[in-house]
Amino acid sequence: MQRSLLRFITCGSVDDGKSTLIGRLLHDSGSVAADQLALLKAEAARTGSAPDLSLLVDGLAAEREQGITIDVAWRFFGTASRSFIVADCPGHEQYTRNMVTGASTADLAVLLVDASVGLKEQTRRHATLCRLLGIRTMILAVNKMDLVGHAEAPFRAIAAAFADLAASLDIDDVSAVPVSGLSGANVTEPSPLMPWFEGPSLLALLETAEPRGSELGPSLRLPVQAVQRLPDGTRALMGSIVAGTVRPGDAVRLLPSGKTSRIARILGSAGDRPSARAGEAVTVTLADTLDCSRGDVVASTDAAPEIADQFEATIVWMDEAALKVGRGYWLKLATQTVTATLRPPKHVLNVNTGEKLAARTLALNDIGVAELATDRPLVFEPYAQSRTLGGFVLIDKLSRRTVAAGMIHFALRRARNIAWQALEVTREARASLKQQRPAVLWFTGVSGSGKSTIANLVEKKLLALGQHSYLLDGDNIRHGLNRDLGFTEADRIENIRRVGEVAKLMADAGLIVIAALISPFAADRAMVRALLPPGDFIEVFIDTPLAEAERRDPKGLYARARAGAIRNFTGIDSPYEPPLNPEIHIITTEESAEAAATRIVDYLLARGR
Ligand code: ADX
Repeated sequence: MQRSLLRFITCGSVDDGKSTLIGRLLHDSGSVAADQLALLKAEAARTGSAPDLSLLVDGLAAEREQGITIDVAWRFFGTASRSFIVADCPGHEQYTRNMVTGASTADLAVLLVDASVGLKEQTRRHATLCRLLGIRTMILAVNKMDLVGHAEAPFRAIAAAFADLAASLDIDDVSAVPVSGLSGANVTEPSPLMPWFEGPSLLALLETAEPRGSELGPSLRLPVQAVQRLPDGTRALMGSIVAGTVRPGDAVRLLPSGKTSRIARILGSAGDRPSARAGEAVTVTLADTLDCSRGDVVASTDAAPEIADQFEATIVWMDEAALKVGRGYWLKLATQTVTATLRPPKHVLNVNTGEKLAARTLALNDIGVAELATDRPLVFEPYAQSRTLGGFVLIDKLSRRTVAAGMIHFALRRARNIAWQALEVTREARASLKQQRPAVLWFTGVSGSGKSTIANLVEKKLLALGQHSYLLDGDNIRHGLNRDLGFTEADRIENIRRVGEVAKLMADAGLIVIAALISPFAADRAMVRALLPPGDFIEVFIDTPLAEAERRDPKGLYARARAGAIRNFTGIDSPYEPPLNPEIHIITTEESAEAAATRIVDYLLARGR
């Protein structure tokens, strides 16, 4: 018989005796290698004390020095009936990222509390996070029973308090066990020290737990990782099966296109395979030649996943830099990568109390609910149904850091009803009527740097050359389209997003667009660049030292900002991120506005039609 596999996470801190307890579990289940045991005994002999089992766990020198556990440590052990993978996660709040990593693949959580202390805020935090990440089966290990004289009453009180907590979090499968990592009581064997506890031991609980699987459905879900052309021209789709089984002849639907076909073959290293199931990596071919690429999902035709571009999700923020509402982040879900923007959170959860609080953004370790929109439709399932097709990460486009993990609740209804109208008069047709190549000249620089002056000159020259243009000036647009926006970071991001979208439409209409905005953030300028065909976004850095702009102060704004009359003023109390690689770099202290304008027009025309 095959031994089943259980993945579980342990939550708790050094103070709860977690390392000793896990060390005990490894030791008493006979999972510790002989050489390690010998080392442990030698160390005990040297110090003249009982073997310190936590040394089996606290392998990292750094954590021993600091007395804390600092990363997710994956440990493997087994008994006659089961193999285990334990994610040992640190308890402190600053390590939320590690906990999310550990819990997102675990089927069960062991929560540790100190019998002499009882439930802590941290216990609620851990239970909440585990539940959010899809764990519905939890074991409360009430540790250090030796400290309370192995008495029943304190254990019962803690177990009852936890039962209430679990009920409030909609956790349906809970057991509690009184243990002592130090003496080993109830870890693997019942203990005569606690005759009032009828069992089962912690290990027995782990061996018999039947957590509900995270991928429930029998329906096939195969996210495509790569597509390869075989010598005979057929396309081979490769990926790992998330749910269900696959056999040649099965009817399947390819998403998001919705086209149907049948599985032709399942290719294995030793020839064709008759079937494959969840958890296996496969290469399949279809009976029909369908367009397919990485990110597509092969699903059974009966119950296919959903497709949408707007969602509500729980977001766990894991980066030092807070969420920027409206900014584009990479969103990775299974094998799909899209750009996602978030709306302000609906609320942030106080995990210590369960309260829902109002918030404008998400900061490090915040857990909130927010709506998000993606630039392309996503194939997904609610996280409650599929961790793989409902869980995602957000990645900062510039720093490439993973800044958040997310769990999709559902698609917003409005997301399902908007189709993209295929238009017959093309961008090319409109541009050729004007006999020009559309472009967006994006002027960026601090206030008073000379953007508007130079942009004006450029437009006059274009007009003289018979070119069709339009100048989008920050100040002017803030009187109309963007009059609802101020100068907070979020408002500036939205300002650039809107102007970027307008510039895109105008370029689509065939125009040469000149946008003159401070646009202080590199990420937002990159976002606009990504909206346009390669080569059509031309970043023009109007480079004027702040001191010089302040000296010129054409609108008298610097003086007012210095006097404290204007807040969030770029260069004074709000940052400006200069472009690192602008297409055109104008140093206004070295080049006249006239010369700069000529250079810009020359650059534009040199691109040809
Ligand atoms: S951006 O940062 O969002 O790109 P935008 O170019 O639209 O700014 O608007 C900047 C103009 O608004 C400035 O030229 C200035 O006239 C005016 N302004 C008023 N308040 C501020 C402020 N706090 N920071 C910068 N510019 C301001």
